Amino acid sequence: MDQETFAAVDAFVGETIASEDETLQRAVEAAEEAGLPAIQVSPPQGKLLQLLVRLVGAKRILEFGTLGGYSAILMARALPEDGRLITLEAKAQYAEVARTSIDAAGVGERVEIRVGPALEALPGLDDVGPFDLVFIDADKVNTPNYFDWALGRTRPGGLIVADNVVRDGSLADGTDPDEATKAQRRLHEMLSGNSRVSATTIQTVGVKGYDGFLIALVEPA
Ligand code: SAH
Ligand code: DHB
Ligand code: MG
Repeated sequence: MDQETFAAVDAFVGETIASEDETLQRAVEAAEEAGLPAIQVSPPQGKLLQLLVRLVGAKRILEFGTLGGYSAILMARALPEDGRLITLEAKAQYAEVARTSIDAAGVGERVEIRVGPALEALPGLDDVGPFDLVFIDADKVNTPNYFDWALGRTRPGGLIVADNVVRDGSLADGTDPDEATKAQRRLHEMLSGNSRVSATTIQTVGVKGYDGFLIALVEPA
């Protein structure tokens, strides 16, 4: 199996059961035109996020890492009318692009973008939770810090999902010096034996290569 096959399968799934509408395609184009990196979730991954939002009956979502708003639009669309999503983005320019695309998608009233490094935004979120679903997809070295914070602010039965934990398989390599990889290993070690969550990691291949999601269900305290 090779990358070409992985991409072809994503394309087929995208043409059949996880299709992007014109609004989402325009959001991707707008991001590209503004010079943002094309690292948004793939359509099949985005559909998984939507299914998770619906499965937990989420009304309050927190996202770390907005980029051009692609995953935010998808999750916001899966929310009920009175649902709310807060998304944290370090770069003001990215947040502007996202704001435009999110508004164009018709979910602007459900989505709030907070600009600045996520760690600095966290104290301001003290009066917002608890959340039903937290999607961690910002700077990967901080994924364990964001997870640790989210754990105290996600309701029992809620989900914490972290993107990019497998990193071409380097997750399994305890000698890899990359700080982002070490952080994902630390996250797994941190959750091992932690009775507050029941978690797993699913490896993924597709247009974005080889990576994976960690999905954690929050248990009652
Ligand atoms: N969730 C998006 C993709 C996010 S890419 C989607 O699937 O559509 C990662 C994003 O995290 C980038 O936009 C990057 O600017 C942002 N980011 C990086 N470091 C950050 C930080 N410390 N705080 C908040 N956002 C950060
Ligand atoms: C990359 C992919 C991501 O999903 C992300 O959130 C950040 C970076 C990448 O492939 O570089
Ligand atoms: Mg990601």
